[in-house]
Amino acid sequence: MMGKSWDILEGACQHCRRCRLWEMRTHVVVGKGNPNADILFVGEGPGQQEDLQGVPFVGPAGQLLDKMLASVGLTLDDVYITNVVKCRPPGNRDPHDDEKAACLNYLRYQFSLIHPKILVCLGRIAATTIISPDFRITRERGQWQERKGCWMIATYHPSALLRDETKKRPAWEDMQAIRKKWDELRADAKQ
Ligand code: URA
Repeated sequence: MMGKSWDILEGACQHCRRCRLWEMRTHVVVGKGNPNADILFVGEGPGQQEDLQGVPFVGPAGQLLDKMLASVGLTLDDVYITNVVKCRPPGNRDPHDDEKAACLNYLRYQFSLIHPKILVCLGRIAATTIISPDFRITRERGQWQERKGCWMIATYHPSALLRDETKKRPAWEDMQAIRKKWDELRADAKQ
């Protein structure tokens, strides 16, 4: 069940004009999945399909993400999925710094409502925004770090896997590590 705070977030996003991306959007894309999930996935920003449907990760990258989640037994019941920016950057360009900055409080609010045990950055944009501005995805993906009780990790963006098949294996290993960490944290919580 989505409570009042989620309604406030949803309303604020729907009316948001904090950066120029609102001018070109069809839909604001807030998130999908379980708002009480232990695992939060954060992508970059909506693509064309996401903008049209108002739902994150429903295009080709989303279909691959679904498969990767399923390969380690995760469903939308176990995760919540959102993006750094909630409106589509034109032509799928990288979101600009001012656009990310304008949108970041929505992500912070989502984080505080979900209170995830694990945060997964999908790709460079999410990792440099959330983990560290100089994060190098190729070098630093797959490494855990804990911040304020939340375990954070970055992996390749599914779109990068569609462009470069050789990234699929390391990304799948990251997915397995995420599943393992979740199992461990749940086992700890029961003790
Ligand atoms: N790529 C993203 O980063 N997010 C989406 O929602 C879809 C594609």
